[in-house]
Amino acid sequence: MFLRNAWYVAAFGSEVTDELRAVELLGEWIALYRTRQGTPVALENACPHRKLPLSMGRIKDDQVECGYHGLTFNREGACTRIPGIKRIPPSVRVRSYPAVSRYGLVWVWMGEKSRADPELIFRVEHWDEPGWGRNAGGSMVVECNYLLVTDNLLDPSHVAWVHRSSFGIDECEEEPVQTTVAADGVTASRWLRDVEVAPFYLPLVQFKGRCDRLQHYEVRFPSHAIIRAVFVPAGSGGLGRPIHPQATLMDSYNFMSPIDAHRTRYFWFQLRNFAPSDVAISKMMDDGVREAFGEDLVILNAVERGLARQTTAPIDLALDRAGLQFRRALSRLIAAESGETMSDGQQLPAQ
Ligand SMILES: [Fe+2]
Repeated sequence: MFLRNAWYVAAFGSEVTDELRAVELLGEWIALYRTRQGTPVALENACPHRKLPLSMGRIKDDQVECGYHGLTFNREGACTRIPGIKRIPPSVRVRSYPAVSRYGLVWVWMGEKSRADPELIFRVEHWDEPGWGRNAGGSMVVECNYLLVTDNLLDPSHVAWVHRSSFGIDECEEEPVQTTVAADGVTASRWLRDVEVAPFYLPLVQFKGRCDRLQHYEVRFPSHAIIRAVFVPAGSGGLGRPIHPQATLMDSYNFMSPIDAHRTRYFWFQLRNFAPSDVAISKMMDDGVREAFGEDLVILNAVERGLARQTTAPIDLALDRAGLQFRRALSRLIAAESGETMSDGQQLPAQ
């Protein structure tokens, strides 16, 4: 089940050109392209005639011509030409989806058009802000339901095992996580006190020695996350304390786009408060993040298969609390959208 009235990332902006591109979002086939003015267009990817994907056709004058019999559709999805037919019935059309370019990504609204407000697009703080750098980021297709990825992104504890050589340190294993539920999502966070800097961050952190480290994992509806890492010299971190002048801040943005119930395209990029135009640092971050997220990919693909083959129900642990709260709140939003009511009997594990 998916939340429909929401913006999802359909592609990197660089992938949307004057040539048609097929994507699948929430199980729906969509054809993407960009007009000569640079506006992204998202149309249902099926000609009403014989349902040939429009992405197999071509762009002519900012319109899409079907590759089977030349039926042509404008960016609103209206049919403007059927070769050999003078009067085109207005019912001959394809669905068009609101589409917006922002943050180097193309966002598509999957619900009611009238509710598609670009102000609702996940806000990336410090984008284009002087003093902040960012790496290009990347994407990968995970062979699992998107909620396994949101579980993962609300679970700071997994880094101790899955990312042992990058984000994790042994001292990550025991520290409990605080969970906060808000109207727009769920946050799991914790301060690790007087710990070593984990290997991935070691060349990046702007001071020497041990640190206090904030792990702030925040996932907002429908499935977008900011993972904020803060490193300050040991003894200077903590909730409500002013940010230390040598603080190293890294914001990792993660956008999960459900392809269907069993596959997810996962997009990411990072922003940092140091070395804004240092290409080598950006590359190091891109390479390191891709390698670490590859570790998640292996686990998540296998968890999806494991859950599909389960012979006994999986158990929940306290560390699952944030992920379960996110799932529960999202289910409510999805149910409200489809006019259903949901029972509230589900138990969360004790914190
Ligand atoms: Fe991970």
